[in-house]
Amino acid sequence: TFTTRIDAVAPARGTGDVPAYDTPAMAELRAWVDGIAALTQPARVHWVDGSRAENDALLRGLVGEGKLIKLNPEWRPGSYLARSHPSDVARTEGRTFIASERERDAGPTNNWADPTAMRETLDGLFQGSMRGRTMYVVPFSMGPVGGPLSHIGVQVTDSAYAVASIGIMTRVGDAVTRQIAEGAPWVKTVHSVGAPLEPGQADVPWPCNDEKYVVHFPETLEVYSYGSGYGGNAILAKKCFALRIASVIARDEGWLAEHMLLIRVTDPKGRAHHIAAAFPSACGKTNLAMLRPTIPGWSVETLGDDIVWIRPGEDGRMYAMNPEAGFFGVAPGTGESTNVTAVETLWGNTIFTNVALRPDGDVWWEGLTDTPPARLTDWQGRPWTPDSDEPAAHPNSRFTVSAAQCPQIADDWENPEGVPLDVILFGGRRASNVPLVVEATDWSHGVFIGSTISSERTAAAEGTLGELRRDPFAMLPFCGYNMGDYFAHWLKVGRSLRFDRAPRIFQVNWFRRGDDGRFLWPGFGDNSRVIDWIIRRISGEVVAVDSPIGRLPRREDLNLDGLEIAEADLDELFDVDIDAWLAEADSTEEFYAMFGDALPAALRSELEALRYRLDAA
Ligand code: GTP
Ligand code: MN
Ligand code: MN
Repeated sequence: TFTTRIDAVAPARGTGDVPAYDTPAMAELRAWVDGIAALTQPARVHWVDGSRAENDALLRGLVGEGKLIKLNPEWRPGSYLARSHPSDVARTEGRTFIASERERDAGPTNNWADPTAMRETLDGLFQGSMRGRTMYVVPFSMGPVGGPLSHIGVQVTDSAYAVASIGIMTRVGDAVTRQIAEGAPWVKTVHSVGAPLEPGQADVPWPCNDEKYVVHFPETLEVYSYGSGYGGNAILAKKCFALRIASVIARDEGWLAEHMLLIRVTDPKGRAHHIAAAFPSACGKTNLAMLRPTIPGWSVETLGDDIVWIRPGEDGRMYAMNPEAGFFGVAPGTGESTNVTAVETLWGNTIFTNVALRPDGDVWWEGLTDTPPARLTDWQGRPWTPDSDEPAAHPNSRFTVSAAQCPQIADDWENPEGVPLDVILFGGRRASNVPLVVEATDWSHGVFIGSTISSERTAAAEGTLGELRRDPFAMLPFCGYNMGDYFAHWLKVGRSLRFDRAPRIFQVNWFRRGDDGRFLWPGFGDNSRVIDWIIRRISGEVVAVDSPIGRLPRREDLNLDGLEIAEADLDELFDVDIDAWLAEADSTEEFYAMFGDALPAALRSELEALRYRLDAA
């Protein structure tokens, strides 16, 4: 695909000048940028080269404009706090669109928009939307630059906060521009906060617009995001590109773009295993990605915490790679007792959004320590004490930090080839019904389990907290095409693997509760006990017990050494209530109905087989 070879990367100085590549592909990139600038009318255009000097200047500028608060370097060097507008705190799923040529291709789970009409709407919105602001041109690579699984793109944005965040979350800079200049294919992404400044008009700390649009054009590989500065809507390389657009590319090319974490687990015998896990937003991916086992002899290395691209290899195995370079993690609930790895990762060089500020210039959020500080400034900048009615940090407050800072990041986390995948986990937040761990009987049963994942709603997206919703493969908000076709694609990818080398699939649930409402399983580091069983299971060291919903552990095979857990709680953790599961099967049938003809016959058979097993039990 490369048409031109360029020998050297332009020296990075952070001047904002157009990189001086003189190729047809570079001319195309420049013409595209000029076109966006003509539409949005920014005061100036800055080409980001990814240099340290540029990043420093950007952060200084944001502090000067009151958009970032510099934290006390004594506690949190190189770190900043952003406070969003109170209305701009999460992904806006209702305003997220797939503008495919055919409505059918967006499928029943996405908002579809007619691409021609949507382009007109966007033209209107973006008309002059960057007036008075700087438009940044940010070339980024998902995956190590030039890697065989990597994909590149460009984001133009009028948010310097977004630029700083993209700089942490992806590989940004001139090496990418050079690839584009050489003719590599790239994805176009455009972002504006939708808050033009008239001459003399004062800026606000978090510019945004009440009207919001996050629009994907899967056929032309373009993303347009308007009106929001929130990470999930503004860092377009992440959810918009690496999941929604990439899932479409993956469908066409025979691979998978997934909302998953990725870890390497080394067992007491020194054998390494790679596990990817799909849990819906705010359901424990970042926690499991940074697991510290509570059982001796096991170690976990982090490879990724949110997105994994998985490709079938020539050897019939699947190879998994984290396309991101940083973590955009949920802050609340991240503490010494739950995720000490994350706490250590956040020692500095971190951008926090919507957490609370301590009087000493450090940050705090619910769950960081058991006892809150006596006085804080809450996420909206108001005085806060432990008597306050509302949390000090927003429930979806986030940290943005480089993956390289994680103390247990795998040495080879930037290996562009990825790692061979042994296990795939599906999970959600389920107070009842779903056992702590169940093994799928084969790939198609595993796809069935993935397709039926449901979870209680969290703060990561707008909506009613606690309500149960289906979130197949944890991809409901992120699949860029018809979810029924996506199920079929998973089945097809499975068929391309050697049956004895396909990853084994398990369902897990850390969130089952007793009648009194408390979690039955301690979770966090103790989830290593579940991993221990899974690894011994795939190594053929333990047998499992068949149940109507899949294979369950024998009680004696679970490593519960040093854990205080009541027998009754264990019974409940693994209880399979036949009536409740029959009701679950009815609900799955209702859920499946929306896919019509797009639902693969194999999944309908799986549902019927489940009913048959439940009836026979
Ligand atoms: P996104 O980054 O939004 O995709 O979400 P995520 O899946 O990475 O979620 P994260 O790991 O940040 O989990 C958020 C919530 O899950 C926090 O409230 C955690 O305390 C809770 N959590 C994670 N692991 C466990 C567990 O094993 N048990 C319990 N009870 N809660 C957990
Ligand atoms: Mn996520
Ligand atoms: Mn996360």
